[in-house]
Amino acid sequence: MAHSKQDILRAINYYNEKYQDLYQEFLAFLKIPSVSTSEANKGDIQAAANFLVGKLEKIGFKNVMKYPTSHHPIIYGEYIADPQKPTVLVYGHYDVQPPDPIDEWETPPFEPSLRGDYLYARGSSDMKGQIWAVISALQSILDTRKPESNIKVLFEGEEEIGSPSLEKFLKNHKSLLDSDLVVNPDAGMIAPDKPSITYSLRGLAYFELRFYGPKADLHSGLFGGVVANPANKLAEVVAGMHDEDGKVTLPGFYDNVRKLSQKERKALSRLDLDENHYKSMTGAPKLSGEKGFTPIERAGARPTLDINGLYAGYINEGAKTIIPAYAVAKISTRLVPDQDPKAVYEGMKAYLKENTPETVRWELDYMSGAPAYINEGDTPGLDLFISALEETWGIEPLMKREGGSIPVATSMKNILGVDSIITGFGLPDDQIHSPNERVHLPTHRKGVEALIRFFMSF
Ligand code: BES
Ligand code: MN
Repeated sequence: MAHSKQDILRAINYYNEKYQDLYQEFLAFLKIPSVSTSEANKGDIQAAANFLVGKLEKIGFKNVMKYPTSHHPIIYGEYIADPQKPTVLVYGHYDVQPPDPIDEWETPPFEPSLRGDYLYARGSSDMKGQIWAVISALQSILDTRKPESNIKVLFEGEEEIGSPSLEKFLKNHKSLLDSDLVVNPDAGMIAPDKPSITYSLRGLAYFELRFYGPKADLHSGLFGGVVANPANKLAEVVAGMHDEDGKVTLPGFYDNVRKLSQKERKALSRLDLDENHYKSMTGAPKLSGEKGFTPIERAGARPTLDINGLYAGYINEGAKTIIPAYAVAKISTRLVPDQDPKAVYEGMKAYLKENTPETVRWELDYMSGAPAYINEGDTPGLDLFISALEETWGIEPLMKREGGSIPVATSMKNILGVDSIITGFGLPDDQIHSPNERVHLPTHRKGVEALIRFFMSF
């Protein structure tokens, strides 16, 4: 039997009473600069991991373990009410993106700062804030009435670098992670009054492309016009990766792209994520993208190619006259069902073979890749999650597609055989991965309530 309404209210009251204490602990968690991509923060990653281990033990989780990996540890913990009963596995990542560009922050990224309803800090939304919502809900339940179903948690420290250790961990710990469904709060909602569940995420294939020219930077007066400039050539080649309709020109890129049905296009059009929404979220002067598709379709259901970083030559103050020796582009493609990241890699190589001039030498690294995720089945517990959101917000949650990637959802489906409820209580203007990342605390608190309702009805 699930818990009674009264039990649920008691847990929610407990949360409201303990809110200040939990908030202080959240601040301490945010202060740890657990940037997974930088070697210099290795100790901080350990500190964040230890922080979670300590907290899980304190709220009554058992078998709490910190598993070392080649980079950053994976944390596991469980509360087993009765092995015969259903089990929910909660996923989270405690690593964060680098805070750069650091000068753009109004307050330092690892000194959480409250302004109005928002708490500003790197990771406040993506996704230490979401982990904290889960922990707040679990503590509120465990301290008031014991859960009746089993709850396992898995927190990794490598999500923002493409989860290089996770698949191996899943393969090696299948029975430990045995569960009926995964709750993955690494996505967000549409607006503070619009809770949502994400049924599809895009995949990713990420490359670094380097063009090499002369053996060292050259005087651009003495040699300009004689040797090719790798920066010029790189700019030309990457510009050619889109045509005038905004389509990606890599060979075979669209071969396996799953078409949107009329029914789904109609459903997506009802989400109100129109031109104005994206313009106001981004501040871009005008939207752009693939011809023939609406903004939500372009962001959620169509593949893209983007330069994430471009580097060549002299980029410091003032002017310096050189022909750079090399030029680098970091290029990501966001993929949809049923594209294969490795096939996109092949397409990229074929494109470069065909289009790179002989005047430069090119190198391409495939840095990470993951296929898209789509949940079309009957996930156990999905109806309970929908009810929990509906009871908390008073409206039926919206089903949406997201353009971001959470590769672990696909890995868990393939390796553990479980579907994920992809959700979360961040907002589209939380500025995740950007300067001044923030979390909307009233929404976060509602999220905790919804999680309490879900865990206690499961
Ligand atoms: N939480 C994000 C992904 C996300 C954000 C999904 C908002 C849906 C809504 C996640 O931490 C992330 O940024 N993932 C990376 C994946 C990559 C490093 C493999 C991404 O999408 O760039
Ligand atoms: Mn995230």
